[in-house]
Amino acid sequence: MRLARPALKWKEEHENYVREWGPARLVPSSFDLAGHETYEEYLKALAIREGGTDRWLPSTNYFLIDDNERIVAMVDIRHDLNEFLRNVGGHIGYSTRPSERKKGYATLILAEALKKCKELGIDRVLVTCDEDNIGSAKVVIRNGGIEDESFADTDGTVKRRFWIDNKS
Ligand SMILES: CC(C)(COP(=O)(O)OP(=O)(O)OC[C@H]1O[C@@H](n2cnc3c(N)ncnc32)[C@H](O)[C@@H]1OP(=O)(O)O)[C@@H](O)C(=O)NCCC(=O)NCCS
Repeated sequence: MRLARPALKWKEEHENYVREWGPARLVPSSFDLAGHETYEEYLKALAIREGGTDRWLPSTNYFLIDDNERIVAMVDIRHDLNEFLRNVGGHIGYSTRPSERKKGYATLILAEALKKCKELGIDRVLVTCDEDNIGSAKVVIRNGGIEDESFADTDGTVKRRFWIDNKS
């Protein structure tokens, strides 16, 4: 298993992941291909988003690749927090390919993302999940998440918020 940055070589695999995901909004949203005419256009837009814009804080995105060169999970690491990320999004967003769930891949990609956070100097990492997302809460707690106060969003959803000490 290894992490890989989005690049042209992953076009087909990325499209397969999105197809398998179905019509629901893709998580993390930085991997959503909708609205981009070509994969090259998507990669250009992602590079701009990763660099930081008025709307997006700097971020880094990785796929988790298995031994068969399949994308099994995705992660978006936000280098800093703004009000939205502090309450709702957190530093790290991830998902596992639907057919690859409950095999430990989310636990693994979060652990790998924490190493990347360390390299970026993020020594307290915030990870959030919806209150009914039992799987994600387990993933965060397994990676050392200590629960803080939840945040009730205006649309009625409640986010559980966890801090991970990333210094040690
Ligand atoms: C939540 C999600 C990331 C979990 O991914 P995953 O690769 O299946 O997670 P893991 O295999 O590492 O599972 C860790 C633990 O959670 C459990 N788990 C995973 N999904 C679960 C679910 N839907 N209900 C209950 N437990 C679940 C696993 O069984 C495992 O526990 P166990 O070892 O005691 O059996 C995945 O379901 C997903 O992509 N969901 C949609 C996107 C999302 O919610 N992302 C998180 C946003 S914060």
